[in-house]
Amino acid sequence: MAWPLFQLQLLLIAAAATTAAAASSATTPDGPAPWPEQFHAVLFTNLTNVSIASTSPALRLHDLYYDWPQRRNLNLIRYQLSGNPLYDVEWNNGTSFYFDSATCRTLQFPVGVLRPGWIAEGGAVYLGRETTGGIDCHVWCKADFIVYYEDALTRRPVRWNFIDVTGIEQFVMSFEVGVVLEDDNQWQAPAHCFLDDAANKTNEHDDHVAVSNGVMDAVRLFRKFAGAAAAY
Ligand SMILES: *[C@@H]1O[C@H](CO)[C@@H](O)[C@H](O)[C@H]1NC(C)=O
Ligand SMILES: *[C@@H]1O[C@H](CO)[C@@H](O)[C@H](O)[C@H]1NC(C)=O
Ligand SMILES: *[C@@H]1O[C@H](CO)[C@@H](O)[C@H](O)[C@H]1NC(C)=O
Ligand SMILES: *[C@@H]1O[C@H](CO)[C@@H](O)[C@H](O)[C@H]1NC(C)=O
Repeated sequence: MAWPLFQLQLLLIAAAATTAAAASSATTPDGPAPWPEQFHAVLFTNLTNVSIASTSPALRLHDLYYDWPQRRNLNLIRYQLSGNPLYDVEWNNGTSFYFDSATCRTLQFPVGVLRPGWIAEGGAVYLGRETTGGIDCHVWCKADFIVYYEDALTRRPVRWNFIDVTGIEQFVMSFEVGVVLEDDNQWQAPAHCFLDDAANKTNEHDDHVAVSNGVMDAVRLFRKFAGAAAAY
């Protein structure tokens, strides 16, 4: 059971934070900063409990292009030492395309593209201060399953962990505010997504979602959790 251990960690973090707060006059923000409306981030991803989550490698590099004004989101996902990246293009109408050079899947997520305030708005529980990757962070937990680290100095996101059996941990390696993927072609799903449209169409609420790809697993989990946290 992971829960009691996690709760113990929360208590320890909270206790440490109380001590730190007493010793310092630094102010604590009310909650995490909202995401900027447009950014490019490089995320290092570790599926720390990958053996149960996936038959694919545990380590991935995500290029995340978040574009709220145009209501779209793109994840370019690379496995370690693999030459065939996976794209995940999410549209606000709930349609997400997952494709690589040979295959394509379409999923429906009612939540659409996450709002900039998905983590900031309401309900985030402050856990205290913690250094991760050498960066002094404020830490919050949202909806009992996302632990979110924010740089105490710059308020940029630094890391988030999902509390579930896959143990997804994502580390923000770079964060460029205002950077957008200019080329509209990059946002287009390729022709092979539309060849056999019905055959590989899956639905988030379908019990029979065929999941063969660990990357997709991780992205689906992220959408599910982040979507739930946004609605929290
Ligand atoms: C990934 O997570 C596992 C399990 O916590 C850990 O043993 C491993 O060192 C991590 N790998 C990297 C590169 O961080
Ligand atoms: C959502 O938008 C994309 C891109 O315009 C389109 O390909 C897709 O068919 C749309 N999905 C729905 C359910 O309307
Ligand atoms: C649908 O899935 C099958 C089997 O996984 C695959 O051979 C086929 O190429 C896929 N079709 C598309 C359009 O990706
Ligand atoms: C890792 O997965 C196993 C198998 O499902 C599960 O029993 C275990 O609790 C998981 N570990 C964590 C830390 O969640």
